[in-house]
Amino acid sequence: MAREYFIAGNWKMFKTADESRQFVQELARSFAPVAGLTVAVFPPFTALASVQGLDPRVHIGAQNMFYEAQGAFTGEISPRMLQGLAEYVLLGHSERREIFHESDRDVNRKLLAALGAGLKPVLCVGETLPERESGQTLEKVLRQLEHGLAGVAGGDWPNVTVAYEPIWAIGTGRNATPGQAQEVHGAIARWLAGKAPGIPVKVLYGGSVKPDNSLELLSQADISGVLVGGASLNVESFSAIIQCGLTLLGA
Ligand code: 13P
Repeated sequence: MAREYFIAGNWKMFKTADESRQFVQELARSFAPVAGLTVAVFPPFTALASVQGLDPRVHIGAQNMFYEAQGAFTGEISPRMLQGLAEYVLLGHSERREIFHESDRDVNRKLLAALGAGLKPVLCVGETLPERESGQTLEKVLRQLEHGLAGVAGGDWPNVTVAYEPIWAIGTGRNATPGQAQEVHGAIARWLAGKAPGIPVKVLYGGSVKPDNSLELLSQADISGVLVGGASLNVESFSAIIQCGLTLLGA
């Protein structure tokens, strides 16, 4: 099967609405659309409206959402509110889990609500350094998948993306080696093949992805894209990462 790549930028709590709009316009000019390549950015909620309809080359996602449709949930954003503003939604990012105490159950409720609203969830999973050092990486990641993806209906699997982000690699400048990443991606791919046979669910790697390590990461058999934090905040570095995907696609 021909390879496809999904290159995504998680902007976290960076960029105003104006900065986001300008970035998307510049980014779209920096690469040519090619079959098999999907590029997406995940701006803050407050910038989603300003990046609408700018360029079909740049897909848009939100960084989080709540699972209820509406109600007395001060400060929260519902799946329905994202309709028309976001195609994708990041769920269970380790910063949500660790700083805002989101549980696997919360993440699962969000994921099912996102699918129900026609949004495409990107489920983030990953282990801490102590978990890796004590040999619990696969156990943790597979448990997060098992809980996070519980109850996904057969027809919804094509809309699901998984992102493996080892917590010790996020924002540290210390990426997983391509071999370390592939080992976990291989296990995720086998798990997914058991749950959704024949459906090519994309699995992104995230954690200190930079222009100089993305070619090798994207070359791994079971890595179908990258979820980039810091290096996605700058057009030059993000487009250099996109270029690695284009190179591997032969474009
Ligand atoms: P960095 O690329 O800054 O390590 O962030 C990764 C990340 O958390 C993407 O969601």
